[in-house]
Formats: sequence, structure tokens, C-alpha cells
Amino acid sequence: MKISVLSGSPKGKHSVSLQSLLYLSKKFKDHDYNIFHISKSIKKIESENDEFDKIINDVNSSDMVIWVTPVYSFLVPSQYKRFIELIFEKKAEYAFKNKFAGAITTSINFFDNCAHNYLRSISDDLEMKFCGSFSADSYDLLNEEERSRLFKFGEVLFANAEKNMPLQKFFSKTGFVPKPYNPQKTFEKTDFKDKKILIVKDRSYEGENLHKMINSFKECISSEFEEIDLSALDIKGGCTGCVQCGFDHHCMYEGADDFIDFFNEKVKKADIMIIAGEIKDRWLSSKWKEFFDRSFFHNHIPSMMGKQVGFLISGGLSEQANLKEIIESFIQWQRANLCDIVTDEFVESTDSAIQNLATRLKIESELEFAAPQGFPGKGGHKIFRDDIFARHRFVFQTDHKWYEENGFYDFPQYDEKALEMSENMIKLTSDPNMREAIRKMLKTEMVKPHAKIVENS
Ligand SMILES: Cc1cc2nc3c(=O)[nH]c(=O)nc-3n(C[C@H](O)[C@H](O)[C@H](O)COP(=O)(O)O)c2cc1C
Repeated sequence: MKISVLSGSPKGKHSVSLQSLLYLSKKFKDHDYNIFHISKSIKKIESENDEFDKIINDVNSSDMVIWVTPVYSFLVPSQYKRFIELIFEKKAEYAFKNKFAGAITTSINFFDNCAHNYLRSISDDLEMKFCGSFSADSYDLLNEEERSRLFKFGEVLFANAEKNMPLQKFFSKTGFVPKPYNPQKTFEKTDFKDKKILIVKDRSYEGENLHKMINSFKECISSEFEEIDLSALDIKGGCTGCVQCGFDHHCMYEGADDFIDFFNEKVKKADIMIIAGEIKDRWLSSKWKEFFDRSFFHNHIPSMMGKQVGFLISGGLSEQANLKEIIESFIQWQRANLCDIVTDEFVESTDSAIQNLATRLKIESELEFAAPQGFPGKGGHKIFRDDIFARHRFVFQTDHKWYEENGFYDFPQYDEKALEMSENMIKLTSDPNMREAIRKMLKTEMVKPHAKIVENS
């Protein structure tokens, strides 16, 4: 088979993810592999038609496309996202249609599932025949058992294609176009007093629904606020993955563009942040993706902790379960509070939803409320905690210090009281009579301390 490999790491040939593909190419020598460093050369691909056409022509003459990419901020790098936008903008979908597809990522398995959902849904949108996904940890290739797993994945991937197995789509078509939103209501003004409100959008949206939604939200505020358009900032490019920030949170772009100052001075200092954007190819724009990737200079520290966040989104969010999951998980992991997500999907109620968002932001910011972390927040925390504690402590030294100082190393083995209690109870329940007696008491005893709190409240 002729295979086009679309490599998503901004590190180009130094990509760890690409090594998995190169390993497969050595084990499955019958195929021709043509590798394109998409993210590394995105500026050229974007500005020179020939560069873009070269890739599309290769895809067009291939049997299979393999998406090979690191996971960046719950998805793929912004540069790769931009390439995917270009496929649709330049109407190059035809080259991908009916081609076999596969996806390989490396990551530390923090929301790699969301990145794979994205790659699969894009493959479905491009009407490709998706043959398999492989999500490896960054170090898996160094492990014999994991190499064997990768090899078996290669067998499955290529067998699916060569036998032309009937493959099912996972994601149905989307593309909901919202009706025009025209505010009907006189909005009630809310005084947020000295709370710092920051509205960030990725482009001006002049004349579009989102522009009017932002205006309606501004109508709800009687106090001061600031509005920033990411496209008006001088941002030289996406995160390059150099990880120079690991030692001391200093980004290689520092002093070279506006992003770091903008993030430190505006985003971090805001009490309330509104994130405004449109749905584009199953996510927000690559400009918004650039924002999230570039904010990685804080590495694994939740730099938006305690913030009240509202989203204003144009597009059919209810069709985009993966994007919704990413938004909710991101906010949970950040230990921020997601007040609401308002869309123009149900345009008749957009006015009241915007008014409601302002009211909730006021109440929840005064209370300094943050919803408890559920599985995405707690699970995400544990992945980062374990990673920084051991194998990446050296790379992310500032994170390590911060995790120590801020009680983020909440390992169960440090909970001496709980361990002692468990130890005592294990001893006690080794006696068969006691074991039976305690077994019967579990339900009633467990709720007792809770009931006592309620009784005394
Ligand atoms: C900006 C940035 C964001 C990242 N986001 C994630 C993430 O959300 N989840 C994860 O598991 N790993 C994340 N990583 C780690 C990379 O996925 C991982 O190091 C990967 O193996 C790098 O592959 P590459 O060498 O091919 O670029 C991130 C790394 C960077 C630089």
C-alpha cells in the first residue's frame, strides 16, 4: 500500500510519536510511507498553495492516511488543527474520501481519548475508512511488551485495509447552521463591582451571531470589563513543544510576541473570563487551540484556578459531545468554575441564557463557588501528579516544587490516618464472628457520621 503519513508534532523529525510510525515502517516493509511534517511546516503550507497541493496530491494517490501526532491540550497541536481546517477551507476533502485511515498518538494519556475521538470524527467527516487507533504513552516504545502491542496494532491496521473490511462510522454528520440571532430584550445590568471581567474572542465576528451575543453579554454589565481579540494580538505561532518552559516556566517566545504578557497580565488576573468562539471542524478554531497550547508554559499548574468561566459559542454544541467533554474536563482540571455555556443553537432562548449567565457569574463569583471535581478533574489530577512526582520531575522542576507547596501530592500512601484505620479494621475482621457482625453494620455505620453532621447543622 501507498501510505501518506501526516505528522502532527511541531518537533518535526524529532517527534517521539513519529518513532512509533517509523518502527512500524521497519516491521511492515511492503508498504511505501511518505511522511509530511505538517505542524512543523504549517506556515509554509498555509501560505504557499504548492506546499498544500503537494500533500493533497500525495494523499489523493495513496491507499491509506495515518494521522501521527502528539496529544496537545486534550486534542492535537494547533498547527495540526489548522491543517485540518485548511482541508475543508480549500475543499480538498475529495483526496481523503474512501481512503483507509489510522491514528497513532503519544502522550501521557491525559485526555488522549478526546484527541482520538477528534481524529476519528474528522476521518468520518472526510468519508474515510477508519481502520484503527493506537494511543501510546510517550515512553512505550522503550518497552518490549509495548513494542509488541504496537506491532500487533500494525497487523490489525493493515489487515483491516488489505481485506477491505466493512468499517462502520462512529460519528454522524454535523454542521448545524444557527438561525440569525437578533437580541429582543432589554438586558438587566449587573454591577460586578471590583471583579475583573475579561472577554476573549478569537476574531472580530463583526455582523455575525457571536458579535451580537458578546454585545448582549456586555449589555448585562454595568461595571468595567476588558475585551480582547486574539487575532489582533501579535502571536508568532503555536507551541513548538520544545519544553524549555519545564525548568522555570519561561517560554521560548518570551519577549518575542504578545502572548506571555497577555496571559500573565490579563488572563491570570481576571476573576471572570468569557471565552467566545465558533465551532469549527468539531472543535473551536485553531486560533483558540493556539491559546490553550501556548498557555502550556505553566506546564501542569492550573493557571486558571478559582476563576469563574462562561462560554459564548456559535454553532451546534449539542452535536459535539467531544468538545463539550473537553470544555467541562478542562475547567474541572483547572479547578475553575464553569458557570455556563451559552450557544446560539436555540436562538429563541439565547437572550435569556445570556442574562442568566451574567446573573450566575455575579452570584458564583461573590460566593467564590467552584463545582466539585468529578472523574475528569480528579482523574486528570492524578495523572499529572504521578507523572511530575517521578519520571518528569527533572523536566518540570517548577511544577514539582509547586505541587509540593500546594498539597497537590495527595498520594493515598501519605494518608496515615486512613491507612492505620484500614489496618486496624483488617485485623478486626480477620475474626470470623467480628467479620460477620461488621458486614451487617457496614450500611448503617457508613452513613452515621454524615447523618450526625446533618443533624447538627
Ligand atoms: C503544549 C503541550 C500540550 C500537551 N498536552 C498534553 C495533553 O493534553 N495530554 C497528554 O497526555 N500529553 C500532553 N502533552 C505531552 C505530549 O503529548 C507528549 O510529550 C508527546 O509524547 C510528545 O510527542 P512528540 O515528540 O511527537 O511531539 C503535551 C505537550 C505539550 C508540549
